[in-house]
Amino acid sequence: MNKFITLNNGIKMPTLGLGVWQIKQSETARVVSWALESGYCHIDTARIYGNEKGVGEAVKSSDIPREQIFITTKLWVTDFFNAELAYRKSLDRLGLGYADLYLIHWPFPFWKHAWKTLEKLYQQGRIKAIGVSNFGIRQLEVLLKFSAITPAVNQIEFSPFYYRKELLAYCKEKGIALEAYSPLTRAKKLNHPVIKELAQKYAKTAAQIMIHWSLQHGLIVIPKSQNPNRIVENSEVFDFTIDDGDMARLDSLNENFRTGFW
Ligand SMILES: NC(=O)c1ccc[n+]([C@@H]2O[C@H](COP(=O)([O-])OP(=O)(O)OC[C@H]3O[C@@H](n4cnc5c(N)ncnc54)[C@H](OP(=O)(O)O)[C@@H]3O)[C@@H](O)[C@H]2O)c1
Repeated sequence: MNKFITLNNGIKMPTLGLGVWQIKQSETARVVSWALESGYCHIDTARIYGNEKGVGEAVKSSDIPREQIFITTKLWVTDFFNAELAYRKSLDRLGLGYADLYLIHWPFPFWKHAWKTLEKLYQQGRIKAIGVSNFGIRQLEVLLKFSAITPAVNQIEFSPFYYRKELLAYCKEKGIALEAYSPLTRAKKLNHPVIKELAQKYAKTAAQIMIHWSLQHGLIVIPKSQNPNRIVENSEVFDFTIDDGDMARLDSLNENFRTGFW
């Protein structure tokens, strides 16, 4: 299983990253530093998470060169008419010269206007890659019709309990990498008997089984943890393979389970 995926514009993106939603700004630098020390080189933040500053502090204080760390941030829906300014402000908070990936956070009204600005920023070389989040097939079809650039990534909720098979096939066909958020169902399904049984079978933890399942389906995966032991645990997912029969069992757990109210 690959630790990097090549996006449709040739940029290499680590397939495992740390999500930092709901980590307080005051704790973020410490948590991200733990992750970087544990071997993570990809962090997923957003303007709306309120912790870009902490992410940037950890990146800057790390011994790892900036170009070896992949940073994603996102454009919030109230900034769709000010996307250029919003990006500049995100970079100011990060204290970094560029983001590796900038995403439209949600397909709220006027997202097309925002996408045009992201295209411009990308064409000016100010972002390594641009993409979207929470886009379904219908919205991607609209985007692909009017856009000069195919989004590099679509970040969506994805787990064995929310297995979005058609969207996965569609994105694969169009060359859009799919990225799994809430891959651990925010810990709500870690005690499911099938997950527990497979954890025992593969001598892994329930969280590792769920992360690996998404990776084995070819996704980029961004589990969140602010616990140093669980950060390490969630990264030890590249040393085993789930056999086809067990992948099918995990696939069959789908119940369109969403963690959020959306
Ligand atoms: N684009 C979007 O709209 C969107 C929406 C939601 C999330 N996201 C991104 O995706 C990331 C991950 O999603 P998420 O935060 O919703 O949920 P998640 O990664 O599925 O689950 C996080 C929860 O699981 C716990 N956890 C982590 N590792 C564990 C382990 N090994 N064993 C047991 N419990 C564990 C965490 O607690 P501890 O921290 O205490 O370990 C936390 O409560 C976010 O941080 C964010 O970056 C994006």
